[in-house]
Formats: sequence, structure tokens, C-alpha cells
Amino acid sequence: MDKRSLVTRSAEETSAFGVALAAALSPGAVVGLVGPLGAGKTVMIQGMCRGLEYDGIVTSPTFSLINIYSGQIEIYHFDCYRLNGVHDLEDVGYEEYFFGERGICLIEWADRVADALPDDILIARLEILSEKERKITIGPLASVKIRY
Ligand SMILES: Nc1ncnc2c1ncn2[C@@H]1O[C@H](COP(=O)(O)OP(=O)(O)O)[C@@H](O)[C@H]1O
Ligand SMILES: [Mg+2]
Repeated sequence: MDKRSLVTRSAEETSAFGVALAAALSPGAVVGLVGPLGAGKTVMIQGMCRGLEYDGIVTSPTFSLINIYSGQIEIYHFDCYRLNGVHDLEDVGYEEYFFGERGICLIEWADRVADALPDDILIARLEILSEKERKITIGPLASVKIRY
């Protein structure tokens, strides 16, 4: 259970982990982030975007469902918090982003759309341990399908 986990002790450390992880992402890669409000999903995505050399503002697209950042590579930032189901994703043509090979797709609240996710997604589960501590566990698609 702890073989693929680390604990961060500040937002900066979580962001730095995102920067490091970005080095492993090529066009077509999809990363799903799972965890409660305030866990640090957006912070980690800010790091990944920085690692992908996007220097613009990165915020949760809570009202628009998707933000597209155009840097060195296109980044598709989804936030599925307010979704009622996979059918809401269909309205934005999600398949182009989840299954396309052009950009990098980063999905907050990926567990809310578990059935729509690609098989080769990387899942990052963030848990709040204390005010400043977060446990981040990396796993495969199966880790969002298991109910705790
Ligand atoms: N270790 C940590 N990692 C990430 N965020 C942290 C950490 N410690 C404190 N925080 C704070 O927790 C909040 C995380 O917010 P955010 O990334 O928007 O969460 P989410 O997108 O999961 O709802 C920020 O206010 C951040 O400063
Ligand atoms: Mg967020």
C-alpha cells in the first residue's frame, strides 16, 4: 500500500513533485487526481504545468469543466467536481482529450468519471494528513475503481 507513496509537508513540496512527475509525461499522457477538497490537486497540477514549461496562470476550471493551456505542449486541465456523470463530459467532446495523442490531460476528481478514463491513466491519490501534510500515492486505473 505504501510502496508508491510519499508525504509532502508544504504546497511547495507538492508542486515540486508535480514538476518532477511532468518529466515522465509525453503527448497523450493522462493523469487523474483524486482526493478531497483542499488536498492539493490543483497545486500538484500547477507544478506539472510548470514542469511542462507552461508559465501562465493555472486554476481549477470549476465552472468551465476544462481549461486549455497552450505552451510548449497543449495541456487539458479538467475539474470533474460538479459533474453529474459521464454524459456531462460528452458535451465538451472529452474523448479528444482523454484519448488523443496531441496534448497532456490532467483530470481533477477523476474518480467521478471513473468509467470514462483511459486504461493507461496514471492516478495520483492525495490524502490530507494534517494542515500541511499530504500523502500522495501513485497507482493505475484500478486504484480509482476500488472503493475504500
Ligand atoms: N503539503 C501540501 N500540499 C499541497 N497543498 C497544501 C499542502 N499543505 C497545505 N496546502 C494547502 O492546501 C490547499 C490545496 O488547495 P488546492 O490545490 O486548490 O486543493 P484541491 O485542488 O485538491 O481542492 C492550498 O491552500 C495549499 O496551500
Ligand atoms: Mg482543485
